[in-house]
Amino acid sequence: MSAIYQRARPVRWEDVVGQEHVKDVLRAALSQGRVGHAYLFSGPRGVGKTTTARLIAMTANCTGPLPKPCGECDSCLAVRAGSHPDVLEIDAASNNSVDDVRDLREKVALAAMRGGKKIYILDEAHMMSRAAFNALLKTLEEPPGHVIFILATTEPEKIIPTILSRCQHYRFRRLTPEEIAGKLSGLVEREGVSAEPAALALIGRLADGAMRDGESLLERMLAAGNAITRTAVEEALGLPLASACAALRRPW
Ligand SMILES: Nc1ncnc2c1ncn2[C@@H]1O[C@H](COP(=O)(O)OP(=O)(O)OP(=O)(O)O)[C@@H](O)[C@H]1O
Ligand SMILES: [Mg+2]
Ligand SMILES: [Zn+2]
Repeated sequence: MSAIYQRARPVRWEDVVGQEHVKDVLRAALSQGRVGHAYLFSGPRGVGKTTTARLIAMTANCTGPLPKPCGECDSCLAVRAGSHPDVLEIDAASNNSVDDVRDLREKVALAAMRGGKKIYILDEAHMMSRAAFNALLKTLEEPPGHVIFILATTEPEKIIPTILSRCQHYRFRRLTPEEIAGKLSGLVEREGVSAEPAALALIGRLADGAMRDGESLLERMLAAGNAITRTAVEEALGLPLASACAALRRPW
């Protein structure tokens, strides 16, 4: 069974928690057919950058009914499974040489195999070398009409200005504990497990802004098979129990 955070990855725009400033603008642009050709998504880990990149890919290539993405057509399913031939996720950390970029440029020029848009998601974009960035400049400036580039990074300050100025930059933010607990509550319901709201609220705080961390913590609790109570979360994570802390604070 895949990890929760893989199964729980939103396949519809409504399922993306927070990030309204990104989501609303992108949704509107896509529904009016105004898709950009180069985006930069920056922000902390686990807050929805890859998720949003995949949603753009799905929306652009969905062959199902409106609203797009339908999440269920062949194209959407292939993007979800990571097997769509025209949606390429490239780890820039390990493909950062000038040769890699040359290779990429040649492939970019070819038409999409399934006739729709070709989407390149360059993860960890800050890891590319300066020479590789420079080799990419021209392609980013004028990619063929069927290509969308999405660069994702946790360190936007390392992206050189000439690249920055060619991309529409969206900054993702840390999620609030309430936003995280809210999604977790929907997930446990879907799994048919009951959980104390206080347990989910605690996980929401411990996740420190990252939905992925919240989901992994929840997964640990589910794997243990015990009821999801606040005490169980505290014990599993080796935290001082709230009851013990309260006892310490008592004046007698
Ligand atoms: N805003 C969000 N709304 C709902 N779920 C989210 C959100 N952000 C992250 N998630 C959940 O966390 C998982 C990881 O998110 P994602 O891959 O989009 O993170 P990321 O921002 O690309 O992080 P990284 O910088 O580590 O690549 C997703 O599969 C999804 O389940
Ligand atoms: Mg990512
Ligand atoms: Zn679809």
